[in-house]
Amino acid sequence: MSDIDLWDTEAVTFDEAADHGLADPACRAAWRDLLLEHLPAAPAKVADLGCGTGTLSLLLAEEGYVVDGVDFSPEMVRRAQAKAGEVATFTVGDAAEPPLANAAYDVVLSRHVLWAMPSPAAALERWLALLRPGGRLLLVEGNWSTGAGLSAEETVGLVEAAGREAVLRRMPEPVFWGRDISDDRYLVTATA
Ligand SMILES: C[S@@+](CC[C@H](N)C(=O)[O-])C[C@H]1O[C@@H](n2cnc3c(N)ncnc32)[C@H](O)[C@@H]1O
Repeated sequence: MSDIDLWDTEAVTFDEAADHGLADPACRAAWRDLLLEHLPAAPAKVADLGCGTGTLSLLLAEEGYVVDGVDFSPEMVRRAQAKAGEVATFTVGDAAEPPLANAAYDVVLSRHVLWAMPSPAAALERWLALLRPGGRLLLVEGNWSTGAGLSAEETVGLVEAAGREAVLRRMPEPVFWGRDISDDRYLVTATA
């Protein structure tokens, strides 16, 4: 099964996880507050790379942001369009080479996707090129108990190797995940 087929399959139950569907108001509010703390004021243009079912895209569109989501899984994009297609745009495409204009975004947001890139360093260079001068990069990543993911130090190192100062905010609070966690989950931000 290809990676795309795997994510198409994952899409069916994806929103059942607390942090994916954000069905719980406290969880949703925690993510909203965290993201807004690090974003420029709305309206600003956001690229949500590997947007999945579009939950974060919708959350930000509801806050007045102009959001373009990209995901290579047609089933993820179909669900994102059903959820948020009236307020955000979604495209099937490779996040490693996003089909988006350079220097056109105020924010590049990517949650739990950088780790899956064939070359995270190359993807990061491409993502930074999407940003206007002064634009913000927000990477939510983790070093999960499954063994998958990137350590916070690896992600900070990738951002610094791309010539940007990285700010690390660890996210141990259960409210983000709907349960206690024992692995390392975090947000890394940078300015273009
Ligand atoms: C763990 S999910 C995260 C989804 C979303 N960012 C969220 O946090 O709700 C990873 C997503 O990245 C997508 N993805 C993985 N590799 C990709 C690639 N090369 N290009 C585009 N999307 C990709 C998958 O289809 C999936 O939707």
